[in-house]
Amino acid sequence: MTSAPLTFETINSNTIIHGDCLRVMPQISAGSVDFILTDPPYITRYQDRSGRSIQNDDNDAWLKPAFAEMYRVLARNSFCVSFYGWPQADRFMNAFRAAGFRIVGHLVFPKRYTSGSRHLRYQHECAYLLAKGYPNEPEYPIGDVIDFVYSGNRLHPTEKPLSALLPLVETFSTYDGLVLDPFAGSGSTLHAAKSLGRRYLGIELDTRYHALAANRLCAV
Ligand SMILES: C[S@@+](CC[C@H](N)C(=O)[O-])C[C@H]1O[C@@H](n2cnc3c(N)ncnc32)[C@H](O)[C@@H]1O
Repeated sequence: MTSAPLTFETINSNTIIHGDCLRVMPQISAGSVDFILTDPPYITRYQDRSGRSIQNDDNDAWLKPAFAEMYRVLARNSFCVSFYGWPQADRFMNAFRAAGFRIVGHLVFPKRYTSGSRHLRYQHECAYLLAKGYPNEPEYPIGDVIDFVYSGNRLHPTEKPLSALLPLVETFSTYDGLVLDPFAGSGSTLHAAKSLGRRYLGIELDTRYHALAANRLCAV
């Protein structure tokens, strides 16, 4: 786990830090990140069929402080895309607004499979497009419905498919811009950023997923 203060070199060195983002982000300079694409715990006590769970998925104590820090480190007139769990939509909305973000879009990711079945067959993921300030509108806006191919969840129980992340990184960040994912998991956002020639910074609390992500990024 990281404890020493982060240097400018570390933050800009395409890395994933092992630690709690609530402790790491305060060490990042205000306004130094160009785009945030993140997939925080959905606060649903998720457990997959093999018993894998997600740290901090059982509480929301981190939610408001994390989005306040994301807002602080993001450059003015820039975007953040955050996945969220629909059962806690109100808590996520409150945290986005309390941090200062403007909600400027909503993305839906239809799945070709059912991830759960109860009152409905649950077949989509969702995310909000948030703005700090008033960023320029993209020259070629992407659609707000993006196909969600099954990732296989081999590296992480809620691994996001690269194909869903690439258009977001491409549209909302610029070549060589710094992309942050403070809830990096197996490093899918960072993989997308590296593939597109962006600089990247990830933070992951879980030792196992941190190691998997670090290995994965070496191979990109
Ligand atoms: C929904 S998962 C992200 C999965 C990722 N998108 C992927 O494709 O692998 C959320 C991750 O946030 C991590 N996490 C939870 N609380 C955290 C914290 N305070 N700081 C850093 N990471 C945290 C969890 O360990 C988990 O791996």
